[in-house]
Amino acid sequence: MGLAAVESNNGHEVEESTYQRGVKHLCEGGIERVPRKYVFPVSERPHLGTERSDVCCGGNWNLKLPVIDFAQLQGSNRSQVLEHLADAFEEYGFFQLVNHGIPSQVIEELRSVGRRFFELPYEERCKYMNLDMRSPVRCGTSFNQNKDQILCWRDFLKLSCHSLPQHLPSWPSNPSDLREVAANYSLKTKFLYLKLMEAILESLGVKEIAPKSMEDQENDWMAKDLENGSQIVMVNCYPACPEPDLTLGMPPHSDYGMLTLLLQDESVQGLQIHHGGRWLTVEPISNSFVVNVGDHLEIFSNGRFKSVLHRVLVNSSSTRISFASLHSLSLDSTVRPLPKLIDEANPRRYKDTDFASFLNYISSVGHKGKNFLDTRKLT
Ligand code: OGA
Ligand code: NI
Repeated sequence: MGLAAVESNNGHEVEESTYQRGVKHLCEGGIERVPRKYVFPVSERPHLGTERSDVCCGGNWNLKLPVIDFAQLQGSNRSQVLEHLADAFEEYGFFQLVNHGIPSQVIEELRSVGRRFFELPYEERCKYMNLDMRSPVRCGTSFNQNKDQILCWRDFLKLSCHSLPQHLPSWPSNPSDLREVAANYSLKTKFLYLKLMEAILESLGVKEIAPKSMEDQENDWMAKDLENGSQIVMVNCYPACPEPDLTLGMPPHSDYGMLTLLLQDESVQGLQIHHGGRWLTVEPISNSFVVNVGDHLEIFSNGRFKSVLHRVLVNSSSTRISFASLHSLSLDSTVRPLPKLIDEANPRRYKDTDFASFLNYISSVGHKGKNFLDTRKLT
């Protein structure tokens, strides 16, 4: 297509097929304006200017999320850290995890390979592009590029990680170290996820029962189900955007799984969470993970922990790359509120659900806000 087409329209209209090739490709064609297809209605725009001007303490509505120290969680301070963790999940649905024990080399290698993947020429990246949301390994753009009326300013590489022997052969072989580096990272984050779920179960009060009780059997079953659960590593690339106040890197959404472990770009902020009726920018802390509650954990905890809306802003100066490791149960398991958390004072708040019906839902209507979770609520 069309550098000519882009220029002749002053960057405001481009052929549909160009959008489908992703934002990176669009930017490489050279644009000075955001094409209409990416322009959000005024009420949904980030309002960068306004939010900045009506804050007292300089700059943005920034938020320092509660910090959970993983090393302390594994040590003698565990019960206190568990309380903080539960408070953070009740109040924000998010915390930042420090001292997580994943070697910085593993993380640096992942950051490097993610960057190099998106620097590949379009012809290389497009080998992995397809429009099937269910496909376990794919490159794509926006959120659900088939259905989104307005596209968001994001390209992604999705890598299904469970099980590795099953999926690894279809991961990109270029850059040549991608498979090894991302597989190593996925195993390390899976370990961390399982440890965090153990802590979460404990903080929900479902682990301290004497041996051989029904609950113990349930816990054993749970441990297996968590271990066999699905894991997706999503590499998100948000190219620098000529008019960042007109569009979003990701629209407001909640994550569908149990937990998400997110590696933010350390030098470029962009993640905002919805809290107290406002959008707050999460300040990146170096060498940490942003951990958040997904829809399945909200259901599982019978509403005690909140799957909170978040979105991503883009900016005019730098490309931002983030890595989200999304964890859930296996595709065929049912997600339901833990029986132990239901009683007369706390009636069941959600219907049973499963991953497959969620995937059907998002591929048919697109994923906007928390609408799937809303269909699961018993009110
Ligand atoms: C996600 C997400 C935030 C970010 O991948 O679901 O919310 O900062 N990512 O990229
Ligand atoms: Ni998310």
